[in-house]
This record gives sequence, structure tokens and C-alpha cells, in this order.
Amino acid sequence: MKLLLTGVSGLLGINFAQEMMQEHEIIGVDRGKLVSAPFKILKQDLLDAGSVEKILDAAQPDWIVNCAALADLDACENNPDLAKRLNMDLPRQLARACKTRSIPLVHISTDAVFDGEKDGFYTEDDKPNPLSVYAKTKLDGEWAVLTENPQSIVARVNFYGWSLGGKRSLAEFFHHNLTNNKSMSGFTDVVFCPMLVNDTTRLLVKVLKRGLSGLYHLVGTQAMSKYQFGVEIARKFSLRESDITPKSISFSGLLARRANNLWLSTQKLSTDLGEVLPVFSTGLDEFYTQFQQGYPQKIRSYQQP
Ligand SMILES: NC(=O)c1ccc[n+]([C@@H]2O[C@H](COP(=O)([O-])OP(=O)(O)OC[C@H]3O[C@@H](n4cnc5c(N)ncnc54)[C@H](OP(=O)(O)O)[C@@H]3O)[C@@H](O)[C@H]2O)c1
Repeated sequence: MKLLLTGVSGLLGINFAQEMMQEHEIIGVDRGKLVSAPFKILKQDLLDAGSVEKILDAAQPDWIVNCAALADLDACENNPDLAKRLNMDLPRQLARACKTRSIPLVHISTDAVFDGEKDGFYTEDDKPNPLSVYAKTKLDGEWAVLTENPQSIVARVNFYGWSLGGKRSLAEFFHHNLTNNKSMSGFTDVVFCPMLVNDTTRLLVKVLKRGLSGLYHLVGTQAMSKYQFGVEIARKFSLRESDITPKSISFSGLLARRANNLWLSTQKLSTDLGEVLPVFSTGLDEFYTQFQQGYPQKIRSYQQP
């Protein structure tokens, strides 16, 4: 299939392309970071007028996955207008254009639409209550996509992996600091469901192949604190877990408010795909194997030196 990926230089986008380029023809939309990628690139700023029609005309894709976003929570607080344009207006335009052209669209959303006040295990029927500009604009984006084009798929995700810049994911943060013997904090009171980004991409393609539509939680099946996640990384790479100091997020000084408990149920996805979702330990094993096999260096070699 011909698969158009927006945000292909991002953490999800680059791993999606890398994971799927053997099986599918990948066309990535990029603003100029990728200079030697082994898949086709359309150079485009998606906020330029007419950009959506332009990329669809050029690519003529069978499927689209919208990985483009303003996904930095604190940047969203500082620039709510940009956050709205990227996280709501752009998905709306994509959904409208995909409806007209009958192209299946996956739009990526976030676990952060919830306030974390519930005792976890949020389902797709639970009412969101976003705490930050990022979360609010992502929720507005979900609504815009599903209103414009109910045949779309909206996936609330949370993932980790190796990124182009080496700093995008929490796993890279822990790995980098641990290997450099730097001490760091890990939040004990922020619970989430991390999934290896490659697992995320494989599941998203299964969702497309199945012709599913609507809202899905697509996160890891094991909930843990961010501190525990850091400890898991340290143990896997045989690094010193005592360098991670357990800490409460209340003392973090971060600008955007974060929810404490983002334990999401993936039951709906598992039932509709008819399969058990990957467990945390196999994802972490793959993350470690990727490191040993030079995967981070490989994807980083696609960008501007
Ligand atoms: N990371 C996570 O764990 C996580 C958790 C929950 C949800 N999500 C969601 O997952 C999706 C992907 O996240 P990510 O972590 O991969 O984000 P990311 O690494 O920040 O990537 C964002 C992508 O969007 C592109 N982009 C931004 N503005 C653009 C513009 N004007 N024109 C064209 N492209 C533009 C960026 O291009 P440049 O490189 O040129 O800036 C980049 O490729 C997002 O929807 C995010 O909300 C992520």
C-alpha cells in the first residue's frame, strides 16, 4: 500500500517509516530535516495554505497517518495559537480532504486528554478533561476529525523509542543520563502505559488493514510510574538504577499541568483486532536489541548532518 505519513521526522513518524518501508511504499511529509531517508519525501510546511490538497495530489496515497503535531506540552502553553493550528485545524482539514477522496485516515491523539482523577483504567467511554493547552487542543482535534469524517481512526497513544534528535522520548532521557552517570529524577506519582513505538506502528497498520474506524486507546498493557519506567530501562541496559531519584511531579517546575494517572484500557482495541496486545517486557527487549544493532544511529543518519 502507499502510505502517506505526516510528521515523518518525529518520534512516531520516523519509526513508522523505518518499520513499514519494507512492506509498504512510504511517502513522508517533512519540513527539511530529512536529507537521506530511504523513502520518498515531500517537502512541505503543513501550515502553508493549500498544503493538505498539495500533498494528497502529489502522493495519491492509499492510507494516511497524521503524526504531525505540536507535541511538546510546554511549547503548547507558550504558543496556544500554534497548538490549535497544528493539533486541531490541520487534523480537521486532513479529515475533510480524506472524506472527499475516500482515503482512510489515522489521526494520532494522546492519553493526556484525561485528568487522571479516576482510579485508572480509562475506557473510550470515559469523559476526558484536559488539563493543559496541549491536551485541550488534542481533544479538540479528535472531535474535529471524527465530526468531519466518522470513518477516520483516532488513536490515543503513548510510546517510547529512538528518535532522530536522540532526546524526544522518555526512554532516551533515562538512557542518556544513565550512560553518562548523571543523576536524574523519576516521577513516582505519574502513571502511564508506555509502548515501544514499533509496536504502536504495527498495531496502527493492523487497524488500517481491518478497516476499523472511530476512537481507540492504543497504549501499553502495563501501567507504571515514570520512575518505575526509568528503573526498567536501567535494569535492561545494566545501568545504575540508584542514579534515578524518586520524586513527586509537584516539585518538577514544569509549565503544563500533567495528569497523575493515565492508565488506559486497551480492551476495545484488543477485542476488535482479535488479539492480545504486546506486553511491556517484549517491547523493552526490542528497544535494547535495537540499541545493540545500531538502530538509533541508522535513523539519525537520515537527517541533516
Ligand atoms: N511521544 C509520545 O509519547 C506521545 C504521547 C501521546 C501522544 N503523542 C502523539 O503522537 C503524535 C506524534 O508525536 P511525536 O512524539 O512523534 O511528536 P514529535 O516528535 O514532536 O513530531 C512532531 C512532528 O510534527 C511535525 N510538524 C510540526 N509542525 C509542522 C508543520 N508546520 N509542518 C509540517 N510538519 C510539522 C514535526 O516536524 P519538524 O521535525 O520539522 O518540527 C515532527 O515531524 C502526536 O500527535 C502526539 O500528540 C505522542
